[in-house]
Order: sequence, then C-alpha cells, then structure tokens
Amino acid sequence: MTDRPNRPETLVRRMALREGVSRAVVTPIQPSVVYASPSIRTLHDQYEGKAHGYTYAREGHPNADVLARKIDMLEGAEGGLVLGSGMAAVSATILGILGQGDHILGGNQLYGRSLRLMHQDLARFGIATSVADPTDVEAMRAALRPETKMILVEVVSNPTLRVADMEGIVALAKEAGVILAVDNTFTTPVAYKPLEAGADITIHSITKLLAGHSDVTLGYVAARDPGQMKKIYDFAVTVGMTPAPQECWLAERGLYTFPLRFEKAQSNAATLADWLADHPKVKRVLYPGRADHPDHAQAAKLMGGAFGNMVSFELEDATEAAADRMVQAAPDLPFAPTLGDVGTTLSHPASSSHRGLTPEGRAALGISDGFFRISVGIEPVELLIADFETGLAAV
Ligand SMILES: Cc1ncc(COP(=O)(O)O)c(C=O)c1O
Repeated sequence: MTDRPNRPETLVRRMALREGVSRAVVTPIQPSVVYASPSIRTLHDQYEGKAHGYTYAREGHPNADVLARKIDMLEGAEGGLVLGSGMAAVSATILGILGQGDHILGGNQLYGRSLRLMHQDLARFGIATSVADPTDVEAMRAALRPETKMILVEVVSNPTLRVADMEGIVALAKEAGVILAVDNTFTTPVAYKPLEAGADITIHSITKLLAGHSDVTLGYVAARDPGQMKKIYDFAVTVGMTPAPQECWLAERGLYTFPLRFEKAQSNAATLADWLADHPKVKRVLYPGRADHPDHAQAAKLMGGAFGNMVSFELEDATEAAADRMVQAAPDLPFAPTLGDVGTTLSHPASSSHRGLTPEGRAALGISDGFFRISVGIEPVELLIADFETGLAAV
C-alpha cells in the first residue's frame, strides 16, 4: 500500500498496491470501470493512440484484452475484440459495418438468433436480407444482389451438421467484392481458421467450446481489415456490448484447456456416433467424421481430420413421446439447449432451437420429432454409452 495516514475517514481514498520484485503468475482480475491518467496531456495521447492506457471499461479493459489476444493467437488474427455474448459479436459485425440500402446474404441454417436478426430486425435498419444453402455455392451466387455487402455463414450447420462449401464461398466473396464473415463457433480454430482460409471476419460464441464450462456468456470478433474492425469496435462500444472482467477471466482460464478438451470430446463423439449408428432404435446418425455423412469428403478436406464434438441422430420411432421417454430415462445427460460444455448435453431441436418453424419447415431440414443433437463432452466414453443405452432402452 502507499503510505497514507491511518485514519478511518481516508478509507475511501483509492490506493495502489506496490509492485514487489515478484509477479503473479495468473492474470489478475481488474474490475475497475475507470482508469486514472496522470495528466490531461497523457489523456490526449491515449485518445489519439500515441500512448496505451485504459480510460473507461466500456471502451476496453485488461481482462477482455488478455482473452482477445489469446483467441487472436488461435485464429491467426490481430486486434480481435471480446464482447458480452456471441450474439453481440454477430450483431456488432453486421450493424457496425452495414447500413441503409445494403444487403446481407446468410446461410440458411445459421444459429436461430442470427436468423431472427436477419429476418426480423435488420429491416428496421434499412438492411435487406436473404438466405441460401451454403453447401451449394451456385445457390449462394444466385442469391447475390448488386447491393450485397456481406455474406455470413457457419462452417458446420446446426443441427444437421452440414458442411459449407467454404472454398467456393471464399472465392465467390472475393469475385463479388463482398465481405465474408464466418461464425466459427462449431468448428473452432482447431478445425478451421476463417482468416487464413481467406474470409474477412471470424466470429465466436466464446460461451461454447472456447470457455467450455457453461459458466460465462461472451463473444469474439476479429476482422482482417483494421477499418472494418474499427467500425465494429465503435458500434459495440456505443451500444454497450461490454464484457465483464470476471467473465473474461473465467473464459481465459477455460481457454487454457480448450485444445485438450476438444481433442477428447471429438474422440468421444466419433466413438459415440459409431455406437449409435449400430443401435437398432436409431434410424440415422449425422457426424461429419463418418463416411456415410453427406459432406464427409468436404469435412475431411476443410477441417483436417477435426470433425468436431457435435453428433445428431434420429430415433426409428420419430415421435415426441418416444424422444421424451429417452430424455426422462437418461437424467445424467442434461437436456439443455447449449453446446460445448465439458459434460455431454442433449438438445431436441423440434422443441427448442427450431420450434419456431412449422413441422413442414423442420421436415425440409430433416428435423423430425425424434431428432436429437448431442454436444459430446469429455467424460469416459463408456459412461456416455451406458447413459445412451439406458435412454434408448426406454424408447
Ligand atoms: C453458432 C452460434 N453462434 C452464435 C451463438 C450465440 O452465442 P451466445 O449465446 O454467446 O450469444 C450461438 C449460441 O448457441 C451459436 O451456436
């Protein structure tokens, strides 16, 4: 502590801890909302980018920056930004860059809220939207308009795990002079690095695999072009998409084990997918690592053997009653609409992420009432198989 008279009324005066000769190994949590500058001249320098120093946490703080720099390393990015949620990252990307009269083309199986943003919110800002199938680059090309300014796709779709024709879409975006933004949440930078592959912007819901413990909600975005990054940053700061320092710290801690977790979860996913495919009560299994997946060759080429931790399957008895019996018989498989947790979670798209679609709309995507999506975790795979055995026995 600095030397101050030891009087109770001075309690509120701010004190700085003296630096010693040793340093903490773990990143400190810095909850300060404000930062004091030593002079007006220095503050000018900070705002003009001539001196580095924080001013106000909504505009940036150390815990967000440490986390962003770590994800930058994984993504091969520079100057990425951590925001309060994955949807904050998606929204800041679109609303920071696009404006009145622009058009955005999305993948037709984007995350539900991203689709909602496209279909229900962007029109109010004068931004036109449409969607097309990203596994079919000619369908994407046909959906481009003269005023298209951005394409937004996910590499692996939810919940049918279709793999986008990323090489075709990167080439199409370049040819058309359109900004290509990729939501890399499902794939993660282990399986795919959008910026290295030629995309302009990469986005994450850190909430999922990167943080990995279902205890923080955060997002990340990095643009290759500093001008685009500045627009995203300014929009996010203005509308207040600030991440909390404590959450950034927790996510940083989770991130250290991400590569290990992802490796184990993928190996479990491959084993579980094969086991489910042989089960008499299972009609079909979707896992990009299996040779019977419609996009297996594309996944193998794009994702370098990292096929992810998501597995979907459909019951032979594709009714909600049968699906519900399975859920109730296997309480150790949390029935929770998220993904990327250390533990396996199960989701039923017809009653959660895709409940807003008509049964016909779901059928067109191949999602029946007996369709499940599994986010495979890192528990011993025998335990998982035993849980599914119990669940399926009740169907
Ligand atoms: C692919 C994808 N993108 C974005 C999001 C949104 O992330 P968040 O929940 O952190 O806002 C999700 C959430 O499930 C997602 O799966």
